[in-house]
Amino acid sequence: MRDSISVVGLGKLGLCLATCFAERGFETIGVDINKEVVDSINSGVSPIVEPGLQKLISKLGGTRLRATGSHKEAIDRTDVTFVLVSTPSEPDGSFSNRYVESALKSLAGAFGESGKSNHVFVVSSTVIPGSTDVTFILLLEEHSGRRLNDDFQVCYNPDFVALGRVIHDFSNPDFVLIGESDSSAGQRVASVYQRMCENTPAIVRTSIINAEIIKVSLNAYITMKIGFANTVSQMCEGTAGADVDVITSTLGLDKRISPFYFRGGLSYGGTCFPRDTAAFARFARQCGCNAELIEASAEVNQQHNRHLADFVLNQISSANDKTVSILGLAFKPETPVIVESPAIRLIDELLKNGVDITVYDRFAMDSTREVFGERIRYADSAKDCISSSSVCVITTPADEFKQIDESYISGGPVKIIDCWRILAPARLGQKAEYVPMGKGLKVKGYAGVSV
Ligand SMILES: NC(=O)c1ccc[n+]([C@@H]2O[C@H](COP(=O)([O-])OP(=O)(O)OC[C@H]3O[C@@H](n4cnc5c(N)ncnc54)[C@H](O)[C@@H]3O)[C@@H](O)[C@H]2O)c1
Repeated sequence: MRDSISVVGLGKLGLCLATCFAERGFETIGVDINKEVVDSINSGVSPIVEPGLQKLISKLGGTRLRATGSHKEAIDRTDVTFVLVSTPSEPDGSFSNRYVESALKSLAGAFGESGKSNHVFVVSSTVIPGSTDVTFILLLEEHSGRRLNDDFQVCYNPDFVALGRVIHDFSNPDFVLIGESDSSAGQRVASVYQRMCENTPAIVRTSIINAEIIKVSLNAYITMKIGFANTVSQMCEGTAGADVDVITSTLGLDKRISPFYFRGGLSYGGTCFPRDTAAFARFARQCGCNAELIEASAEVNQQHNRHLADFVLNQISSANDKTVSILGLAFKPETPVIVESPAIRLIDELLKNGVDITVYDRFAMDSTREVFGERIRYADSAKDCISSSSVCVITTPADEFKQIDESYISGGPVKIIDCWRILAPARLGQKAEYVPMGKGLKVKGYAGVSV
């Protein structure tokens, strides 16, 4: 096997994956149809924001990681190609495979003309189960004139990474999942991961359809967990002495539950959870199964957005004026992505209620400005943002916001609504009224214990 690898689609995931391959010594060819993306990478500038990525692109871009617009180069210079292009959601919850199909057609055409005796095509985009067997393999055969497993192999190898941690998660996965058309292809992809990963993850090799179903099931399961924790959080708010963190951290000690992604907070959002949940429901219906469990989970998530708006409006009603500052705009810390972000939903609701809004998020100011323009104000720092309003809402558990103390409060008195309970109330001084979500009123005479 050649010591080279190619990745088609240099977006939020593909570029990080290609960079990780290059960092671990693979001569890596990255292919993208966007010329600006290609030029940027080759000049050492990352076209996307992701922690750790710019440093690696400065070192590797244009050298060990070379970007190109040519799918033929990927075929000619490497023997394994990962396809990681976007699969946008359709109105019925399914994913469109049009970009994957377009990329595979270009690769298959080049492979057919190449005279090469073998190539492994690895689809990593999230797809509706069945896509690889029913569509992608036939398309590769048709456009290359070659036969599956005689002349080329196919794997489905989805990624379980979170934006804001993509480089870390690619390098240190809990497990690697490989659906394989034959065992030699699976072994080849496994050996790529064994070299790339900094840890030694479990490597699960199975059929392609199993891997496709595992991918959409995993995120759907996590969203149920998030919805459960948020329901407990709402219960606690209405119950004197109750504290969601004590409850979820204790439940998480049970191995059947585990503490991960099990914390009362805000609704899930972003580019994966909402659409993977919808896709799981769509696939369940397609299989003739009852999708109510997962549909309820999506509805609980929407209801939690409405709960946040009601919670904030209730706090404003007793404040001096109708001004709110919002710290955190993206759906999570350290990313500019505001898709399905609870903060963005909150801004929508508050604007409908005539609230004057100032916002701040180190990463997501530009994306938010594109949505709201001049309808809201944009602060230069967390400190400026807090000082501009009588109510402040902290919507993401960003490290930057955890530093907030009394020195941040230079204006009048402010209520601070802490959606993830990240602040130490004792450090906020006299001018702040601390309002955590997920906790009931204090019970007189009980000081509580630390979690
Ligand atoms: N973003 C996430 O957090 C996440 C997590 C897990 C899985 N996924 C899945 O990974 C896939 C990729 O997502 P993303 O967020 O990186 O997408 P993205 O939109 O950020 O990037 C896709 C890239 O592919 C390029 N492209 C499109 N068609 C092409 C073609 N024919 N040839 C070459 N390049 C082409 C585009 O120009 C773009 O740069 C999706 O299926 C998504 O569901 C995403």
